[in-house]
Amino acid sequence: MAFQALLGKRVLLVIGGGIAAYKALELIRLLQKAGAKVRAILTQAGAQFVTPLSVSSLTQDQVYRDLFDLTSEAEMGHIQLSRDADLVVVAPATADLMAKATHGLANDLASTTLLATDKRVLMAPAMNVRMWEHATTQRNLKQLSKDGVLFVGPDAGDMACGEYGPGRMAEPAAILAAIEDCFASESSGVLPASLAPQPLAGRKILITAGPTHEPIDPVRYIANRSSGKQGYAIAAAMSELGAETVLISGPVQLPNPVGVKVVRVETAEEMLKATQKQLPVDVAICAAAVADWKVDRQSDQKLKKSKGAPTQLSLTENPDILKTISHMKKKRPKLVIGFAAETEDVVKHAQEKRARKKCDWIVANDVSPGTGIMGGDHNTVHVITEDNVDDWPSLSKEKVAKKLGEKIAAHFAPSSKAKKDRVESVRV
Ligand code: C5P
Repeated sequence: MAFQALLGKRVLLVIGGGIAAYKALELIRLLQKAGAKVRAILTQAGAQFVTPLSVSSLTQDQVYRDLFDLTSEAEMGHIQLSRDADLVVVAPATADLMAKATHGLANDLASTTLLATDKRVLMAPAMNVRMWEHATTQRNLKQLSKDGVLFVGPDAGDMACGEYGPGRMAEPAAILAAIEDCFASESSGVLPASLAPQPLAGRKILITAGPTHEPIDPVRYIANRSSGKQGYAIAAAMSELGAETVLISGPVQLPNPVGVKVVRVETAEEMLKATQKQLPVDVAICAAAVADWKVDRQSDQKLKKSKGAPTQLSLTENPDILKTISHMKKKRPKLVIGFAAETEDVVKHAQEKRARKKCDWIVANDVSPGTGIMGGDHNTVHVITEDNVDDWPSLSKEKVAKKLGEKIAAHFAPSSKAKKDRVESVRV
């Protein structure tokens, strides 16, 4: 199916100037293998990273480089070049190319083509993490998304400049998949989630969900009524918004959310270990209903009924995952979010809990019997931050998850106070 989506399609590839330009060569090969015809524009900066000869050898066409190249203009004017394609792909899309496209600058062949095209444009950004996170680039990203430009990546990881974070260009296979999605969605008219605006792209987010089971013996355990639905919905929403998402799940009867790495555990101890293994992350959301206690000494063998009921079950406290990661000195996530299931004085108790556990936000809900929240499909929450309480109406757990994702994206957005603080601390 996906293979056929590209058969005979004409892709105009704009190769910008970045170290990731070498990956554009692999992308050309993959596109051709999938049956697409590729024509390439190489910017002046792009030609510092890959040679025109390697690009033209692969495309088996001339490489389009200069706006005022009379031969090219005579053979194929820049307007026609932009129209004579089914899709324009910019990879790597540098901060400069994104800025030009946002503001309609047209002083070279690549930017002129982006302004002149009447076709869809897909960008694969690649730049230094500070450049990517800069308020200007994020503003440009927002504007371009609004204007209908589609994005794939960037990924987070080690950068050529020695820094770590979001800014690495998506891998050629991922760009190819996004291109296939573009064409597939053209016929269906529905934009796939992979191409929807992804404000959390480049962020790693960890979620704990579900109950934990604390064994008494090999067959019996202590548990609670958590269904895991809210945590799973959050994981799905974070992934849809572009985050690299890891879900540490206690025992639940739910399928893995699409695009999410799921680590299944049973006990609180295992949940803590699995969580620590995933650090560093940008955001940790502790939605799990972790059992407060575990059995002191669980029996290796099944306790025999014939021996009579145990006269006592000695319990010890479980580790508090939320508190542990909130108190971390080195690997503390930039944003730690806890949940508070309360049955009375919901906001007051949750505010106290936020302070006690030292997390940044608490999502509080009333789980009194009769609310139907425990195990149900809806939730009524209050999102408590350092200086605010946000009361949300009753929403489906999916909607709560989406709204939480948007709030997290806004928190990391350049205009927010938190972002300014973060940038200040980097400068000091
Ligand atoms: O203390 P309480 O269980 O009410 O706190 C709820 C919050 O703390 C939730 O975010 C829950 O995931 C987290 N928690 C935890 N580890 C525990 C107990 C609670 O992470 N052992």
